[in-house]
Amino acid sequence: MSNDKVTITDHRTGKSIDCPILGGTHGPAVVDIGNLQKKLNLFTHDPGFVNTSSCASNITFIDGDEGILLYRGYPIAQLAEHSNFIEVSYLLMYGELPTSAQLEAFRHSICHHTLLHEELLRFYRGYRYDAHPMAILVGIVGALSGYYHDDLNIDDPAHREMAAHRLIAKMPTIAANALKYGQGHPFNYPDNTLDYVENFLMMMFAVPTETCSVNPISARAMELMLILHADHEQNASTSTVRLAGSSGANPFACVAGGIATLWGPAHGGANEAVIRMLHDIRNPGDIPKYIERAKDKNDPVRLMGFGHRVYKNYDPRATIIRQACHDLLDELSAHNQPLFEVALKLEEIALKDDYFIERKLYPNVDFYSGIILTALGIPLNMFTVIFAVARSVGWISHWMEMMGSEDQRIGRPRQLYLGAEKRDYVPIDIRS
Ligand code: CMC
Repeated sequence: MSNDKVTITDHRTGKSIDCPILGGTHGPAVVDIGNLQKKLNLFTHDPGFVNTSSCASNITFIDGDEGILLYRGYPIAQLAEHSNFIEVSYLLMYGELPTSAQLEAFRHSICHHTLLHEELLRFYRGYRYDAHPMAILVGIVGALSGYYHDDLNIDDPAHREMAAHRLIAKMPTIAANALKYGQGHPFNYPDNTLDYVENFLMMMFAVPTETCSVNPISARAMELMLILHADHEQNASTSTVRLAGSSGANPFACVAGGIATLWGPAHGGANEAVIRMLHDIRNPGDIPKYIERAKDKNDPVRLMGFGHRVYKNYDPRATIIRQACHDLLDELSAHNQPLFEVALKLEEIALKDDYFIERKLYPNVDFYSGIILTALGIPLNMFTVIFAVARSVGWISHWMEMMGSEDQRIGRPRQLYLGAEKRDYVPIDIRS
């Protein structure tokens, strides 16, 4: 037997099993505990899946210690510099960079599925005028399952591919309508002569009374936001989509589950928290006081947009987006607006502070993405929606990978039961 194994012994019974160690392309190897229950009648216990690989995947790799993020093997910095969101979407979905002909065919398909069914537009009217755009997004994407279900055979790869194209194409339309609904403005129809990002910005910002031209600086900044947020391996929302999809459910309903998961403040909501914090600080002169509060263990204040659970040296997305953020503020001549002044001063002071240096607390992607979205004129409650538009590509790529895998089976975690022991039912009249 190979030495690439871990032996697990249950000292209560003296029984042992050898569990093979499986090596990946990069990253820690994993212990295959497939026989644990069968041979030792044991489960593993890992709340939060901190030590658990839930699947094999070829899509994205993260090394938190080294600050590495690869999409299909390509470093995120190279994609951010040379690629665009449509090409990155193709890469994530199909595994390789496209040829010109493949890219053109993909772009054409995405461009021609941007319209929503007219009846679907009526769903928006069922929401309260002040509904959070994420609530709208969950509902409308879920409702797509009502339009694409009976004719959809998820066992057919061509059908899965079409569902993926439809999702990627319709997400900007659905997201922009969610914004327009809250503003009381008419919805804009997509314009297929524009590219993906321009079309998205146009649908969010155009009003019928004015001609709308998309600022190329804004378009590039949005393109970068979408590329950087397109995938992040088995995070909570992606795992939700995989788990929901493992039962054979409709992909649009599965993605609605992913959107619901992303909405939580521990996942997609941090960029919003950054802007709220900057508003709270308000005055650059108050930054040192705020930083002291963030360092005080008796004070719940933390510097939002600093630190990361996985990236312990630096967040590679933050390095890229930081430059873009500074460039954007320069180009929009926005440096001297109070909010951005506070942000840049806070960054400068925190990066020199021993507390943050010793704990390796660097600004993360959300510190800068909140500032960029604010500079682009995107309302705060749309930040997570923008994240969802980007991440829908990751979600559907993972769904396609899972559905195409030969050993695909329903996800069914087990538990450590700590409830009451087996007991007999007590009739109500004799209960004390
Ligand atoms: N401000 C002040 N102190 C902090 C901060 C912060 N933002 N983050 C961590 N610390 C301190 C923490 O108190 C602890 O200090 P000590 O060692 O003295 O007890 C030390 O740094 C280690 O912190 P931790 O809580 O063990 O780190 P974690 O890996 O559990 O938490 C985090 C990571 C992102 C939840 C946390 O850094 C945080 O709350 N940051 C602010 C919120 C934020 O920006 N979240 C977005 C993350 S990026 C999202 C994404 O990629 O999807």
